[in-house]
Amino acid sequence: MQLSLPTDADPRETAAARIGELRTQIEYHNRLYYVQDSPLISDAEYDDLFRELQALEMQFPDLVTPQSPTQRVGAAPLARFAAISHRLPLLSLENSANEMETRDFDLRLKKTLGLAVEQEIDYTCEPKIDGLAIELIYTDGVLTTASTRGDGFTGEDVTVNVRTIRSLPLQLCGATIPSLLEVRGEVFLSLEAFQRINRDKEESGEPPFANPRNAAAGSLRQLDPRITAQRPLSIFCYAPGVVEGAVFTSQQGFLGAIAGWGLPVNPLVRHVRGIEQAIALYREMQVQRESLPYEIDGMVIKVDSYAVQQELGEKSRSPRWAAACKFPPRQAETVIEDILLSVGRTGVITPVAQLRPVEISGVTVSRATLHNWNEIALKDIRIGDSVLIERAGDVIPAVVRALTEKRSGAEKELPPPTHCPKCGSELVQIIDEVAIRCMGLICPPQIRRSIIHFASRNAMDIEGLGDKCVEQLLSLGLVKSVADIYTLTKDDFMRFERMGDKLAGNLLASIEKSKRQELWRFVFGLGIRHVGEQTAKALAQAFGSLEQIEKASMEELTSIRDIGETVAQSIRTFFENRENLAVIERMLKSGVSPTVKRKKVGGKLTGTSFVFTGALSRLTREKAQLLVEDAGGSVVGSVSKKTGYVVAGEEAGSKLVKARELGISILSEEEFLTLLDQEEIA
Ligand code: IVH
Repeated sequence: MQLSLPTDADPRETAAARIGELRTQIEYHNRLYYVQDSPLISDAEYDDLFRELQALEMQFPDLVTPQSPTQRVGAAPLARFAAISHRLPLLSLENSANEMETRDFDLRLKKTLGLAVEQEIDYTCEPKIDGLAIELIYTDGVLTTASTRGDGFTGEDVTVNVRTIRSLPLQLCGATIPSLLEVRGEVFLSLEAFQRINRDKEESGEPPFANPRNAAAGSLRQLDPRITAQRPLSIFCYAPGVVEGAVFTSQQGFLGAIAGWGLPVNPLVRHVRGIEQAIALYREMQVQRESLPYEIDGMVIKVDSYAVQQELGEKSRSPRWAAACKFPPRQAETVIEDILLSVGRTGVITPVAQLRPVEISGVTVSRATLHNWNEIALKDIRIGDSVLIERAGDVIPAVVRALTEKRSGAEKELPPPTHCPKCGSELVQIIDEVAIRCMGLICPPQIRRSIIHFASRNAMDIEGLGDKCVEQLLSLGLVKSVADIYTLTKDDFMRFERMGDKLAGNLLASIEKSKRQELWRFVFGLGIRHVGEQTAKALAQAFGSLEQIEKASMEELTSIRDIGETVAQSIRTFFENRENLAVIERMLKSGVSPTVKRKKVGGKLTGTSFVFTGALSRLTREKAQLLVEDAGGSVVGSVSKKTGYVVAGEEAGSKLVKARELGISILSEEEFLTLLDQEEIA
């Protein structure tokens, strides 16, 4: 919805109006997406709104305010967190370990309140989120401070990090917003996010987080907010601190009000009458726990009426009016019978503990991940050790620690492996990484991924050889490495389900065509760790042939711009693997002959850099990049004073704004093509 202002309106005013409108819309869609789980617009439409706002703010920087959705991440890394005193202490909760203790809690309250045993208390029951408590301060509806619980009295100022939590409004919405709202809540990570973070950590060779709570704490207490922004933290709010300008009479009323202002409140919160209803709900939540996308470790029962809460009062560290009814722990003790090696799809070798089977909240666990050899050494884990293991939802259980006090002396250490258990390749540990990996092109667990990557559009660009096709080739046993692609026949393809003569012919033709693909695409397609498209291009340009790249020494490799020790070592290790060389040799024997296009020197575009922004209609970005490079120019990602041309397609964004600011020549797609034509002639 565009604002239709008169054409002679002041552009700044028009922009300010549109900025206000975009911010409201973006925050509204954020709430629908992150809090209510019911988005109304597509991700692309959301991105369009966001980009439009960014572009306008870039054009009018003085209109940027901290509440703008573009300003969630923006702060530079901190040296340390400042201390923040809580106006009211953040209390903890008294635990109730079982249903009997929960009934005792209810009886205790009745006694204090002078109620008869048959009289029922109204409770609000909330899932106990297993994360970390924080306090948010909204001043006149604007999020001004967020602090950790700390010791309950003083916490750390984590405002810049909390601002990255997408579900949290930077500005409250609604008509009657209190002048001061302190609200407490729990920051947590979904199980999916936790697993992804650990997978990424494993991939990049960093030590993993032990559980989602630690991952959330590590992400929130991260001095660089840009890292926090990559961790999709969530929050549920559940308690008031100091409030001015609003009065609440019950927990139910409080949660309803804050939800109305846009704060995330757990949808599983229920209001019940009497302790038996609360206990029935506790049992229900324990079942629900298994299928929730985040960890809960109990149910919190709170007296609903704030007047009754006041009457009951507090002890030094916890209120008398609430109890945390804990679920049985998901930890158990067992014995490591053996340690097996598992090879991941990217070649990372993970030690997996084979356990004496043990039941953890209804699930029999017989394996647990040990992550990597650094973890094994750090935790001093040995075969035969008694260990404490922990599981969270469906997440693969992890070994928390070895119970070294229980050792008999017969336990055995497991040295890091030297060869891949699947393909026999020599294993490597790349500088600065803890992961031990197999870089073998013939390694079975990696084949699916390596063929899909090899054939992909940005690598060898073999049309038709996608996911499904590779799946069938593997299940029919037709390929065991990328080299087998080049020995496939039409009859092989005809064995596929739903394969016609024409399609089989097309597939063979695109495989044949790829034999003369450019060298950098071939090198990139090999899937050498740390060798992306740019590095592959640099290698092809510098060495000119596959043979020379294979032979290049560490010194020769590191002398190339942007290739450091780690990348060079990875390249060397890859080509030192005899099996890899054999696979490459087979491809060359099948007629694969990567080509090298010499950069045009002396053409009009030599030394000219291009930036593309917006959508092109007549050619793809990849094709446009090829045309520029063929003509001796280069394509870069961001606009600077050195940029030669900015090519602006449909709905160009902030790069176009920047180009205008810097006075860079701007070309339409048409003008770009004309320029290239002239270059062709030149
Ligand atoms: S109420 C006085 N509600 O559990 C109010 N706490 O073991 C105290 N927690 O420190 C907190 N979910 O970090 C409350 N729905 C919930 C909760 C919750 C998780 C955490 C919180 C607290 C800890 C106490």
